Amino acid sequence: MLRTKTVEQSIRDTEEPEHALRKSLSALDLTVFGVGVIIGTGIFVLTGKVAKETAGPATAIAFVAAGVVCALAALCYAEFASTVPVAGSAYTFSYASLGELVAWIIGWDLVLEFALGTAVVAVGWSGYVRSLTDNADWTMPEVLSGPDAAAGFGFDLLAFALVLALTVVLVLGMKLSARVTSAVVAVKVGVVLIVIIAGLFFIEAENYSPFVPEAEKQPAGSGWDAPLVQLLFGYEPTNFGVMGVFTAASVVFFAFIGFDVVATAAEETRLPQRDMPRGILGSLVICTVLYVAVSIVVTGMQHYSELSVSAPLADAFKATGHPFYAGVISFGAAVGLTTVCMILLLGQTRVFFAMSRDGLLPRFFSKTHPRFRTPYRPTVLLGVLIAIIAGFTSIDELATLVNIGTLFAFVVVALGVIVLRRTRPDLPRAFRTPWVPLLPVASVAASLWLMLNLPVETWVRFGVWMALGVVVYFAYGRSHSRMAERR
Ligand code: ALA
Repeated sequence: MLRTKTVEQSIRDTEEPEHALRKSLSALDLTVFGVGVIIGTGIFVLTGKVAKETAGPATAIAFVAAGVVCALAALCYAEFASTVPVAGSAYTFSYASLGELVAWIIGWDLVLEFALGTAVVAVGWSGYVRSLTDNADWTMPEVLSGPDAAAGFGFDLLAFALVLALTVVLVLGMKLSARVTSAVVAVKVGVVLIVIIAGLFFIEAENYSPFVPEAEKQPAGSGWDAPLVQLLFGYEPTNFGVMGVFTAASVVFFAFIGFDVVATAAEETRLPQRDMPRGILGSLVICTVLYVAVSIVVTGMQHYSELSVSAPLADAFKATGHPFYAGVISFGAAVGLTTVCMILLLGQTRVFFAMSRDGLLPRFFSKTHPRFRTPYRPTVLLGVLIAIIAGFTSIDELATLVNIGTLFAFVVVALGVIVLRRTRPDLPRAFRTPWVPLLPVASVAASLWLMLNLPVETWVRFGVWMALGVVVYFAYGRSHSRMAERR
């Protein structure tokens, strides 16, 4: 259970021709890739909900707090990704440092993060597309608008179709998807800049008071969805106030998810040692600046209590009497969310691929396609599963679950940096995390703090998923592991 896969072994495995991915990405590709997946449902959808219900204009501070947590984690990810340039992200890193059981747990956790993340974004995309077709006076039947919209049974046809379409694109190969990505990322960043620049002119100063709204008791009977930290320390659960800023941070954290996905493409990068850290940190910095600006502008345009929860950026422009901008923003958001969805799906299949290549999941899944050189088997299997999840589930429940899973991975990666420095000080590290072990320890503490601010029910769901993972490991992975065979 504690067997580790050496870094050299990890790299050698990628060189077996049948199981190899094509190396074609540069630092710029990675940054575009990063921005492409980072800016998404988080800023386009969750901003409104969080400002309205938990933090008011102080949502901007929540973004800074979440950004700091991510920056600390990113510095740890960058060291790992530049030392172990192999598909699979945190999964591979932990295999090299913390042993097989921890690696499995992380891989299982990342499957949750990416699969549900893909579903969340697909559902957000579907909302924006419906708002566009509404403008053109064509309304989707309620029953096909997803479980959030319909009263009883609801199926989100658009979200379902999007995931299936992207699955096909991914099977056809990385190069095609990277090219599509760059064009779409340009549209998305353009739209975010329009929100910031045009929105500046419509800000009313009085919307900023109070900047941090006073703490308010949560509606009765909501203990189950209260943040764990408030229950642990016996607070009466509240919204807004200083605690509200942290609750908000634990939710808008979703907006930053994705820089860690950049690390999953390490194996497909031409010069991973140099380009990985550049790609990861570069995309993170760009996004943090944009998020803070967007949330300041939007809460300045409309009083937080009036923000829309489904399409806040576009609706703020409608509310100030600028429907043209609203249309452009809805369109750009719909286009932009496609890449987010696609890259999360890609990260998902790569983790699954790596786990299967190691024998922890059936090896059947790690044969790459003879012509496209893509891991088409897990791509198709997971694509179909995620499409179904996206069709039947609501955003809210899934987003917090994605966050807790991701934060958990951050904790393990930060610990992994410390461990690998001790166990393999000799390895070449193109990027070294500064102030080890201080910075990784701070990263662990910061991630745990955000986790504690997530609702109790999220903790329970996460616990159930992870327990299931441990069962699968002992029933299959432990005996089928290639590391076991080699011994
Ligand atoms: N960060 C990505 C988003 O906000 C996952 O949609």
